[in-house]
Amino acid sequence: MQSNITKMLQTIPQYTRMGRHGRAVLEHGTIRKWANLALTEAERKLRRIKVSGKPYILFLDPCNVCNLRCPLCPTGMKDLGRKQSMMSLECFKRYLDPHVPYLFEVNCHNWGESLINENIFDMIAYAQSRNVGTNMSSNLVIASDHHLDGLIDAGLEHLTVSIDGADAESYRKYRVRGDFDRVINNMARLVEKREARGGRGPYIEWQYIVMRHNEDKVEQAEKIAKEIGIDRIRFIPVGLPYEVKNRSALAEEWFPRKFKGRTETEETPQTFGQADRPAPCYYLYRSMVVNTDGGISPCCIVYKDKRDFDHMENHPDGNIEQIWNNEMYQSARALYTSKEWVGRKRTVCDHCDIFQRHTSKLPENMRKVKMAQKEQEKTVTADSVAGQ
Ligand SMILES: C[S@@+](CC[C@H](N)C(=O)[O-])C[C@H]1O[C@@H](n2cnc3c(N)ncnc32)[C@H](O)[C@@H]1O
Ligand code: SF4
Ligand code: SF4
Repeated sequence: MQSNITKMLQTIPQYTRMGRHGRAVLEHGTIRKWANLALTEAERKLRRIKVSGKPYILFLDPCNVCNLRCPLCPTGMKDLGRKQSMMSLECFKRYLDPHVPYLFEVNCHNWGESLINENIFDMIAYAQSRNVGTNMSSNLVIASDHHLDGLIDAGLEHLTVSIDGADAESYRKYRVRGDFDRVINNMARLVEKREARGGRGPYIEWQYIVMRHNEDKVEQAEKIAKEIGIDRIRFIPVGLPYEVKNRSALAEEWFPRKFKGRTETEETPQTFGQADRPAPCYYLYRSMVVNTDGGISPCCIVYKDKRDFDHMENHPDGNIEQIWNNEMYQSARALYTSKEWVGRKRTVCDHCDIFQRHTSKLPENMRKVKMAQKEQEKTVTADSVAGQ
């Protein structure tokens, strides 16, 4: 008989972070932040190209250097296309400050291991002191008592621990240079330390990327998670780096067989566990991503500096409105409407198939396929209505 987890995983959930975002909206909300949230969501629904709403989630990357070499991560593959560096505490504060009136949460990670940056604790404490919730994703390999105590004392709210396996063998195929026993032990010590200090935080989530070589270990992982007493184990679909060429060979090697975690059709292969999602792209309305060097990427999927939409150092006054409505952002939003926007520039979003673009913006061959699909959907709906 199949266990609950196996049944649930027959389709790996595509988006399961709603609870975390909901908590941040309640805990860090102010009238101004909620009004901005409502405005932003309305503008997204209306597919506005120029927006008045501000991003309410921020990514500030403290460090894009890493101790591991995960084979599908641009940092692990040494193909980041950006200088590897650390963000200073001064930059972190300066980049965060203009967002503070609108922000519910800041993600203190992007393309590296944030614990390598010794300023990470001060960064987290600073964001918390400004009523911004903090999240961090870590491989937790280098974490000593100093790091574990530091995270708790800084007031980190949500820690995602990346462990894709349930024993040393299944773990190390992806987390190259990692140490399974050590990470599990670190996570268990963090739970103990947190409870010893009254159990306020962080919320500890084990994140398990389901891949071909570890799909048979999900139940074993769930058992370990229960024994340690962490708050949640979350299984997510594997994605391929945005810019790799040999996609089908990589998909063959890494995609699970037993579980379906992807929307995959002839026109829309999986990209980071997502493809052909309902438009418009939510990153272009909700979140801003600032890299260690101050470069602004359109989302946390794109990484090379040549794809940047702007740079924080071009805006010493920290004018978010100017950045958020620059020609790159507006050009990208314009892909999702039938309205023409004069002066539209090509951006990395032109090649992205994660969100369904407006049919008028698709290349001729894809446009025909989409139109035919839409016609077919209409016929099916009409048939089912007629059959009621
Ligand atoms: C690039 S990592 C940086 C943070 C940290 N080094 C870590 O691994 O948790 C950001 C997130 O991407 C996840 N990730 C890495 N490779 C992935 C893949 N192939 N598919 C989906 N998520 C992936 C990581 O587990 C982590 O949660
Ligand atoms: S641990 Fe995180 S940043 Fe480092 S290589 Fe793996 S996925 Fe990339
Ligand atoms: S359209 Fe694609 S590349 Fe552009 S911001 Fe959205 S997810 Fe990223």
